Amino acid sequence: MPSRTTSRWSSTLPSNSAAEAERLARWRADTPGAAARIHLNNAGAALPPRPVVAAVLAHLEAEAELGGYEAAEAAADRVARAYASVGRLLGTPPERIALAQSSTVAFAQALAAFDLGAGDLVLTSQADYASNQIMYLSLARRRGVELARAADLPEGGIDPDDVRRLVARRRPALVALTWIPTNSGMVQDVEAVGAVCREAGVPFLVDACQAVGQLPIDVERIGCDYLAATARKFLRGPRGIGFLYVAERATRRGDYPLLVDMRGATWTEADAFALAEGARRFETWEMSPALVLGLGAAADYALEVGIANARDRAWRLAEHARERLATVPGARVLDRGRTRSAIATAAFDGHEGAALKLALRARGINTSSPDRADAVIDMDRKGVRSGLRVSPHYYNTDEEVDGAVEAIRELTG
Ligand SMILES: Cc1ncc(COP(=O)(O)O)c(C=O)c1O
Repeated sequence: MPSRTTSRWSSTLPSNSAAEAERLARWRADTPGAAARIHLNNAGAALPPRPVVAAVLAHLEAEAELGGYEAAEAAADRVARAYASVGRLLGTPPERIALAQSSTVAFAQALAAFDLGAGDLVLTSQADYASNQIMYLSLARRRGVELARAADLPEGGIDPDDVRRLVARRRPALVALTWIPTNSGMVQDVEAVGAVCREAGVPFLVDACQAVGQLPIDVERIGCDYLAATARKFLRGPRGIGFLYVAERATRRGDYPLLVDMRGATWTEADAFALAEGARRFETWEMSPALVLGLGAAADYALEVGIANARDRAWRLAEHARERLATVPGARVLDRGRTRSAIATAAFDGHEGAALKLALRARGINTSSPDRADAVIDMDRKGVRSGLRVSPHYYNTDEEVDGAVEAIRELTG
C-alpha cells in the first residue's frame, strides 16, 4: 500500500478551511479550462495549469523565430532543469530520467532491454494496462516468452504473497506491474511487489502512468529497476511526452533497449557503438523541447501544490463521487481494491458508457468511458462491457462532482 503517513509526503494543506478555499481559488484561477466546463477526465488528460501552457507556447514561438535546432540550443539549460524537476518528483537525480514520446514508448523501451526468449517468464498482474498485456502477448507469440499473472487478493489488486510464490517457483526474467489501472480506482501494492523482487534479485518494471501526480512516488522505496509514466494525466503536463526512470543497477548491468539509436549511443567505428551514460541510452533522438519544457513546468507546479495535497483532495473527491454515483438508480460502482485512487468508475443498467460520456460532454461535463478492450480480464470479471470513468483532481470541487452525478441521474432516469 502506498505510504500515506511519512513526513516527506504528509499533506501540508492548512487544516483551516478558509486557507484551503484560498488555495483552491488560486489553483482554479491557474486553470482557465475549469471556468468553462466540469473536467472530470484527469485520468485521460488533465487540464494543464497556465505555467505549463506558457512554457510550451513560448518555446514554439522561439522555434518560429530562431529555428527549431537553434531554439533548442538556447533552451538547453531549461531543458536540463526539466529533467531535474521530473527527477525530484520521483526522488532520483536527473541522469536517471529518460524522456520518451509516451508512457507506452517508455515502457516498451524498458521491456526491450531484456533479451526475452523461449521459456523466459514475464510475471504480471490481472490488471496490467491493455497495451502492456498486448506487448507481453506479442512477445509470447513472436519469441515464445511465457506469461503468468499473479492472483488477486479477495478485495482486488495483486496478491504480493502469490508474487512471492511464483517468483520462488518459476524465477521470472521480469516482473511488470501497473500501479493504478486505467479503468478502475484500484491501487496495486507496488511496494510489496518491489520488496519481493529486490529480495529475489528479479528486475521490476512499473507502469506509473496513472499514478504520477496523484500520489507521492519514491523509486528507491519501490525498489524498481524501471518506472514509466506520462505528462498529460494527473501530472497536468502536455500531451505527447512521457518518461522513464532507469535505476543505477540497470545501467550497471549493461541494460539498453534493443533498438538503441544515435541519442542512446554514439557510432564510434564502422562496426561499433558506445552507449550513452545513464538513462539517456533509453531515449531516441527526436524530441519536442516545447513538450519537455511543458513537462518540467508541470512537475514544478505539482511539487509546489504538494503531491500529498493533490492526493488527499483528489482521492476524497473520487470517494465522494463513488458515494453519490451509488445513489443513482441502476448504477453499480465498479472500483475494488484495498486502496482507491482518484478514478471512480460505475456501470449503469441499460446505458453504454460511450453514449453517456457524449451526452455529458454536450452538457459541458468531461468524463470517459472504458470498455472491455481496455481491461478484458477485469471487465469480464465485473460482467460489464463498458462503464463511465469519473476522475477528479485537486482543482475540482464537490459541487462539480455533484453536478456531474445529477446530470448522470437525469440521463439514466
Ligand atoms: C495505466 C496506464 N498505462 C499506460 C498508459 C499509456 O499511456 P500513453 O498513452 O502515454 O502511452 C495509460 C493511458 O491511459 C494508462 O492508463
